Amino acid sequence: MASDRQRLAILISGRGSNMAALLYAAQADDCPYRPVLVTGNKPRAAGLDLAEAEGVPVRRLDGRSATFWDDLDAALREAGADFVALAGFMRIIPEDFLARWAGRIANIHPSLLPRYKGTGVHEAVLAAGDTVTGASVHLVTPELDSGEILGQVEVAVLPGDTPERLADRVLIAEHQLYPRVLSAHLARFTDPAWIEAQVAARALALPETSARTSHGAPAWHVGAKSSGKLFAILSVRHHGEEAIGLLVKGAGPEEAADLVAHRPELYFRPAYYAPAGWIGVRVDRPETDWDHVAEWLRRSWRACAPAATLKRAG
Ligand code: GAR
Repeated sequence: MASDRQRLAILISGRGSNMAALLYAAQADDCPYRPVLVTGNKPRAAGLDLAEAEGVPVRRLDGRSATFWDDLDAALREAGADFVALAGFMRIIPEDFLARWAGRIANIHPSLLPRYKGTGVHEAVLAAGDTVTGASVHLVTPELDSGEILGQVEVAVLPGDTPERLADRVLIAEHQLYPRVLSAHLARFTDPAWIEAQVAARALALPETSARTSHGAPAWHVGAKSSGKLFAILSVRHHGEEAIGLLVKGAGPEEAADLVAHRPELYFRPAYYAPAGWIGVRVDRPETDWDHVAEWLRRSWRACAPAATLKRAG
């Protein structure tokens, strides 16, 4: 697992107890992420000292700086972060920053979302007389505390609870929830079964296609059995390659060489298949753009479909 762990950056503003939970969970052999950076908007946040003592790289950025968001983006890129976990990070993230990290930022919030967004959560729970509250881990989108919910934990409200006592108990539950939910979320990006399901849904949405195998690998075919062709193959670390890649047909060897030279993090030359005109597109990264994968499938489908199929498809 070690080599293909997702590189996780954690952003904090304060004591960082959720950050600590994420760090300690990462010591497990089967944890799918590795903390590569702890940073945030408060250069003196207590959590940064803890991270430093635990040997995790720390960047002390100042949220008051005019260049804060650019500095943060640069720090995340320098650390090679694949994914970002907000852990008590109390700044609203601007839209242009979010766009650069779309789908790759998660947050923990101390309520059962969609109830009680924003601040003052525990006071609101008590004022409403709720008997159950909890915490949620969700993806971060421009609308505050409203992205896809990845997991939740329930916590009972006790008679006589104060906001502080409730917050303390919810925090214990948060520490259990965050590493578990984040691990499950990040593990799926390298899970061949999950990836195959993503590809299959898009490949089979194209006309006259069917699922096949190619030398044991999942593959997709267009056209009749006799006249059709394979237009996509899922290569799961075939021939000793590190990547899980989707093999598709492009414009030829020149285009393939060009793509590999310019975007080596995304494209690769598949062993054994390249001479037959296949190009590899990596599909095992959290930032995988599945619309882009769908475009490649469509393009490869066009290149491989028999004339009669193309005609029927218009
Ligand atoms: C946690 O309870 C977290 O859920 C909350 O801040 C606390 C941070 O504690 N986050 C939010 O309210 C986000 N809107 P920590 O620094 O000890 O992890």
